[in-house]
Amino acid sequence: MTWTRKHLLGLEGIGYDEVVTILDTTSRFREILDRSVKKVPTLRGITVVNLFFEASTRTRMSFELAEKRLSADVLNFSASSSSLKKGETLRDTARNIEAMKVDIVVMRHPSPGAPHFLTDHIDGSIINAGDGPHEHPTQALLDLFTMREHVADLRGKRVTIVGDILHSRVARSDIWGLKALGADVTLCGPNTFMPAEVEQLGVTVSHDIRDATVEADIVNILRIQRERQSGGFLPSLREYSALFGINAARLREMKPDVLIMHPGPINRGVEIAPDVADGDRSVILEQVTNGVAVRMAILYLLSMVRASKQVEEPDILAEVGA
Ligand code: CP
Repeated sequence: MTWTRKHLLGLEGIGYDEVVTILDTTSRFREILDRSVKKVPTLRGITVVNLFFEASTRTRMSFELAEKRLSADVLNFSASSSSLKKGETLRDTARNIEAMKVDIVVMRHPSPGAPHFLTDHIDGSIINAGDGPHEHPTQALLDLFTMREHVADLRGKRVTIVGDILHSRVARSDIWGLKALGADVTLCGPNTFMPAEVEQLGVTVSHDIRDATVEADIVNILRIQRERQSGGFLPSLREYSALFGINAARLREMKPDVLIMHPGPINRGVEIAPDVADGDRSVILEQVTNGVAVRMAILYLLSMVRASKQVEEPDILAEVGA
């Protein structure tokens, strides 16, 4: 077990042993989700606040469920109904949270680096739940866990990420995590969707969807982020769909055992056809289930570091109310 981090801010620079520690710990917590009593006392006495400054369905609910499954005390903060509306700064909001003796802060924010900023102002552990187009580490970890459930060893496996890489925090975190585990990563999309620094990422770039997917073991399809397309990156959704959308005809040209993934939310009929999203190669809802277990594992590992305890296999035999 290799884990000494106080915060989980991103996957850039993460090591193989750290990723494996998270994924092995996730396996232990994944078992709990199939029990009749899905709750353990692991985080009893720990307070977690979910600070969401941007819309979320999956990440927010998944974190809250993970915290409750671990018996933490949970606070939910929403920017739209907070004193930020009255002119309070993020720093002052953070200092007030600190004064309430919160142990772990889960933060989603539209600005890259906002969770990193928080680490300078509060003593609690910070988990990045998505910071603008920068990183979304827990999404990438649940992607890796789901891949590993189907493909035991990712070394040398071909993983193609399709879509708007430029604006995607999921793609960035996926790339760092996949590289740490030794996968071969291909990015596919229009040139306008590729970041300037793409050559430095150690990936292959393709602008041809057939070339990029026909030999892939895993195809991870990104959402077209309509809210970030004002810069003229895309002539039209119809053209994107025709050139890069994954439909049944394209799926038939891929390996018969290819895994189809998507972080959600899905734009049905744009980047993915409904029959592919709901088809037998899709693991999209498995990703959502696994997300709860990954977040339980991260909360557990950070809480062990906070308590200065040796990180070891979690004792999850005890059930609350059993
Ligand atoms: N995948 C993901 O981050 O979804 P939400 O925006 O709904 O949290």
